[in-house]
Amino acid sequence: MLRTHTNGELNKKDVEKEVKLCGWVHSSRDHGGIIFIDLRDRYGKTQIVFDPKHDKKLHKKAETLRREDVVCVSGKVRMRRKGMENPKLKTGEIEVLIDSLDVLNKSDVPPIEINDRHIPNEDLRLKYRYIDLRRPDMQKNIITRHKIAQIVRNYFNDLDFVEIETPILAKSTPEGARDYLVPSRVHLGNFFALPQSPQLYKQILMVAGFDRYYQIVKCLRDEDLRADRQPEFTQIDVEMAFIDEEDIYRIVEEMLKKIWKKILKIDIKTPFPRITYKEALSRFGTDRPDTRFGLELIELNDIVKDSGFKILEDVVKKGGTVKCINVKNSEFSRKEIDEFIDYVQRFGAKGLSWMKMTKKGLESSIVKFFNEKSLKKIISKTNAREGDLILIVGDHLHYVVNQALSNLRLMIGKKMKLIDKDKFNFIWVVDFPLLEFDEDEARHVAVHHPFTSPKKKDIKLLEKHPEKVRAVAYDVVLNGTELGGGSIRIHNPELQEKVFSAIGLTKEEAHEKFGFLLEAFKYGAPPHGGIAFGMDRLSALITGNSSIREVIAFPKTKNAESLMVKSPSEVSKKQLKELHIKFDFVKKRKKIDKSVFDKIKDLLDKNSIEYEHLTHDAVYTSEEAAKKRNTKLRQGAKALIFKNDKDYIMTVNSADKEVDIEKLKKATCAKEIRLATPEEVKEVTGLNVGAIPPFGNVFGMMVYTGNSLSKVQVIAFNAGTHTDSIKMKFADYKKIVKPNIVDLAK
Ligand code: AMO
Repeated sequence: MLRTHTNGELNKKDVEKEVKLCGWVHSSRDHGGIIFIDLRDRYGKTQIVFDPKHDKKLHKKAETLRREDVVCVSGKVRMRRKGMENPKLKTGEIEVLIDSLDVLNKSDVPPIEINDRHIPNEDLRLKYRYIDLRRPDMQKNIITRHKIAQIVRNYFNDLDFVEIETPILAKSTPEGARDYLVPSRVHLGNFFALPQSPQLYKQILMVAGFDRYYQIVKCLRDEDLRADRQPEFTQIDVEMAFIDEEDIYRIVEEMLKKIWKKILKIDIKTPFPRITYKEALSRFGTDRPDTRFGLELIELNDIVKDSGFKILEDVVKKGGTVKCINVKNSEFSRKEIDEFIDYVQRFGAKGLSWMKMTKKGLESSIVKFFNEKSLKKIISKTNAREGDLILIVGDHLHYVVNQALSNLRLMIGKKMKLIDKDKFNFIWVVDFPLLEFDEDEARHVAVHHPFTSPKKKDIKLLEKHPEKVRAVAYDVVLNGTELGGGSIRIHNPELQEKVFSAIGLTKEEAHEKFGFLLEAFKYGAPPHGGIAFGMDRLSALITGNSSIREVIAFPKTKNAESLMVKSPSEVSKKQLKELHIKFDFVKKRKKIDKSVFDKIKDLLDKNSIEYEHLTHDAVYTSEEAAKKRNTKLRQGAKALIFKNDKDYIMTVNSADKEVDIEKLKKATCAKEIRLATPEEVKEVTGLNVGAIPPFGNVFGMMVYTGNSLSKVQVIAFNAGTHTDSIKMKFADYKKIVKPNIVDLAK
C-alpha cells in the first residue's frame, strides 16, 4: 500500500503518528510563507503543511504543486493551531506536517472545478466525466447507487432468489422500443439485438425451475431520450413462479421500504395505495400521477354539453372531452395565463379557456357565452371560491386533454410551490388495459407485452371488445415517475393464442417472433409473474436528482452519444467489409451550419425559454448585425474561440468591447492562450468565424462571459449562419449556458 490512511480518516487520536497519505491537490494556500494544501481523495480532505522552517527544499518543491496533481506525502500528525480548526471536515482538528513529497503525476489545468458550487454546463461535464465524477455530489450519487445495489442483492438473496445473468447478444423481439442491432460476422446478414429487457429469458428461467430470479441488469432501447430515459439503463429485474400479483406487491414494497430505511432513514408506509389506470387518467390525466398535491382534473362534459358555449358543446357532441383544473387562490396575471395557453398548446391542445371566480361570480371573456345554469354548475362542481382560477381544455381527442392538463397541473404545482419535496408518495397503478389500438398499424397492440395475462373476468371480452380487457399489470409510481412495472404472465397456450389473435398475429408469425418461448412453454410452464425497476430512476429519486444522468457514471447525452469516448463513431473499412456492410447513403462533408442552429433552438425550447428568431441579409460585422437586428452594439453577444495550452475555450463579450488577453489568461488559469485560427474555428465548430453563437456548450467548450454583457437585459447573436440571429434575455442565456462570468474587457 502506498498509504497508511485515507484523507477522511485522521483525527486527534492520531496526533504524533507518522503517516503516509496519497491523493489529489485540492487547493493550496500560502499563509505567511507556509504552504497549506488540502489533499483530497474520495474519503475526504486532510490539511497537509509545508513549512520552510521544517524543510526548506521540500517547501520549494511544494510551491510547484498545482490543482489536481497526484502526490504521496509522509509526515507527522499534529493538532491545528487554536482557531484554525475546520468543524466542517472530519479531519478538521488536525493537520500533517510533511517530511517527504513524491509527485506521482502532474495535472493539466482542469476544465471543471472540483466543487459543487460552480457546476458547468452538462456537455463539458460529460466530456470530462472523470473530473466531474471527482465532485463530492457525484461521488455521493455513485456511492449511494452502489449501496442501493447491495441492499437489493442482500434482500433478494435472503429470500432465496437466485441472481442469474442473461445474454446481451439476444434476439430482436418487439417490446415497444427500437432495438440496438449487432451484425453477426459468422452468420452474414443476421443480427443479434441487444436486450430491451431480459423479459423472455426470465420467463424461460421460470420454466427451467428457478422459481425466484432477480438480476441487476443493463437494458438497451433505441428510443427518444428524456431526463429519465437513457439508451442503456439498468433494471432491477425480478420474476417469480407460483405466485399472484399480491405476492409481487408485498415483496416489492418490502424491498423499497428497506432501501428507503437504509439510505434515507425514512420509514415509508406500506402497503402502498392503489389506483386503477382509469382513475389515474380521470383524476390526474396520466398513468403516473404525482399525488403529493391536489389540483386534480375535473370533467365538465355533462355541464358544457348544453352550456351555450358552442366550441365546447361541439367537442362533447363529437365524442371528445372537456376537463378543467381549479387553481385555488390564484394570483396569476394575464401574462402568466397567456403563458399557460402557450404551454398547453405544446401538448396538442388548441387552446385553454379560463374563468376567474370573483365576488360577483365567474368572470372572463368567455363567460358571456355560457348560460347561468351551467355557470352555477361549474362553480359547484369545481368548488370554486373567490380568487380561484378555472382552466379548461376541451378536445375531441381524450389524450390531448389529459396530456395538456396533467402537464399544466405539474407546471402550476411547481410554480405555486404546492409540491412537498420531502414527501415520497408511492402508489401502485393497476388494471392497465391489455391492448390499445395503434392508429399507424391499424390493429390492437399489447400495452405491456403480449405475454401479459388478461384479468380472468375480462377474457370473454377478448374477441368482441379487446380494448375493454384489463391486464393483470401494475406499475409502481413515485412522485410522478414510473419506477417499475410488471405483470402476471400468460402460461396457458390457448389463452396465449387468443391474445396473439387479438393483436393480429397469426400462429406462424407468433412462432417466428417468439417461437423459443412458446416452445419452452410446451414443457411445463408454471404460473409466473414479475416486475422490473428502473435502477437509475430509483437512484435519482432517492438522491433528489431530476435527471438520471446524475446517477450514472458514464451516461450518454440527450443526443444519445458519449462526448468522452466520442461514440458512436465510424469504424474501419476493414471492419465493414468483414460484415459485408455498405451504406446506402453518401457521407456528407461536415456541414453543420443549420444543425447548430437547430441544437440551440432545441435547447431553448426544451427549457421553455423565450427567444426571437430573426432572419436577415447576411451580416459580417457586429455593426452590420446591430443595424439589421435593430439592437444596440453592446447588446451583441460576440463569441470568440481561443486555444489555451490544451483546449479550446469560448469568450463572449459585448460587441463594443475587446477581449483583454491578460485578463483572460488569469480567468482561465492558462499559461498560454491565443485566438484560434479560422481553420481551427471551422474544425471545432463546423462554422465560419463571425457566425459562432455564444453557446460554447454546444461544442463542448468552457464559456467565459464578460461581465459587461451581464448589464444588458436582452442579447442578440448570430446563430450558426450569417443570416440567422437569436434575441433572448441574458438571464436565460446564463441559465442555459452556465458561463463563467469574469472581467474580460480591455
Ligand atoms: P418496462 O419497460 O416498464 O418493463 O421497464 C421497467 C422499468 O425500467 C425503467 N426504464 C427506463 N429507465 C431509464 N431509461 C429508459 N430508457 C427506461 N425504460 C424503462 C422504468 C420502468 O418502469 N420486462 C418488463 C418488466 C416486467 O414485465 O417484468 C419491462 O422492461 O423505471
